[in-house]
Amino acid sequence: MAGTPDLACLAGRRVVLGVSGGIAAYKAVEVCRRLVDAGAFVSPVLTQDALRFVGEVTFSALASEPARTSLFGGSDPIPHTRLGQAADLIVIAPCTAKTLGKYAAGISDDLLSATLLATRAPVLIAPAMHTEMWEHPAVQENLQTLRRRGVHVVDPESGRLAGGDSGEGRLASPEAIVAAAAGVLAGSLGELAGVRVLVTAGGTREPIDPVRFVGNRSSGKMGHALADVAAARGAAVTLVTTTGLPAAAGVEIVPVATAEEMADAVFSRYPEADVVVMAAAVADFRPKAVAPEKLKKQAGVPEVVLEPTPDILAGLGERKTHQVLVGFAAETEHVVEHARAKVEAKNLDLIVANDVSAPDQGFEVDTNRGILIESSGFVGETPLVSKVELAGLVLDRITGMLAPERARREEQQ
Ligand code: PMT
Repeated sequence: MAGTPDLACLAGRRVVLGVSGGIAAYKAVEVCRRLVDAGAFVSPVLTQDALRFVGEVTFSALASEPARTSLFGGSDPIPHTRLGQAADLIVIAPCTAKTLGKYAAGISDDLLSATLLATRAPVLIAPAMHTEMWEHPAVQENLQTLRRRGVHVVDPESGRLAGGDSGEGRLASPEAIVAAAAGVLAGSLGELAGVRVLVTAGGTREPIDPVRFVGNRSSGKMGHALADVAAARGAAVTLVTTTGLPAAAGVEIVPVATAEEMADAVFSRYPEADVVVMAAAVADFRPKAVAPEKLKKQAGVPEVVLEPTPDILAGLGERKTHQVLVGFAAETEHVVEHARAKVEAKNLDLIVANDVSAPDQGFEVDTNRGILIESSGFVGETPLVSKVELAGLVLDRITGMLAPERARREEQQ
């Protein structure tokens, strides 16, 4: 964490404060008050278990709007999407083992868990539970999953617990939780805080005439996952994309269609970038001439002459100064060999090779598997995971590569 963040960045921001059912729920009252004092618009969401420990009325009195406790029965028929979409930040304090597990598994069976799935805002959790529960492998694995997805965590403290014994698992102080919330909003939290990441996503479309194009099957899901996870980890992210997919709050979107447009967008932003990840499937060839009017069937089969597009990644490799440069490789045979050749030919630090001949990985699907090949010689294969999780694993490697450069910069300051 880079210093204590200024609480002023909470002013005017919409914060959903989720409270789950543990004895530490009483401290959430103080978290609520501090967030409101800092100027945030706070919407409390209490689980049914939280109501066993604290009262709805307390939060309604302190927060910016009445507390909510259920998906059903209120005046708003879809409160989770309204809350999730409007939020600038979701804070869960305390976050019990149950809430943590549901969030990691994607279960949405109450208002809080549904809101968590219906948001693109950053999420900060403050776990609290007994030491044995906190140390349980299931809890730690769920926590790892969430961290990989970019969820921010205020670790619990060590101290006296509800049963009178002592150990790790006590909710962090309200002061620390509110400072962490401000840190997330200020972009000063997360392992990629202060890092500028440029990501490309989707397949380029090279026009033949006003209605037809040469294209490929890339949906943009892999590139968008990388952008979302990098943003959740605190990076300043620019996403050059050919798709209309949504992106996480704070991600700057640059829409493009052709390889030429993508090249312009990427090259102009390259000098300021610390990391570039080319997940886009850029067409290698485009029609040499674009017909100004729609080609008519009656005129017979047209002869479309192709020419090469600019190789954006190779151009980035030639101009590399300080950037960590990452490519993806969609291969159908000799996957490692072909991908490794691209690392050298394009002066990359890392390439993520996808065997796109398998049905559950590569284009369009929600899952992927990557062979990570680095210029250092490191080679690692990931299991078949969601694209979000693969993005997290790729960003873990990138974070490691940035460490020496960041240490050098910090020393200079
Ligand atoms: O978008 P999805 O449906 O989620 O699918 C994800 C994906 C399969 C598209 C993605 O994981 C992937 O593999 N992207 C790279 C696809 C590709 O173009 O591979 P390639 O081996 O042809 O190119 C190697 C690298 O050079 C890529 O980083 C590519 O962005 C870059 N390139 C290629 C051609 C070109 N003219 N300019 C480039 O910069």
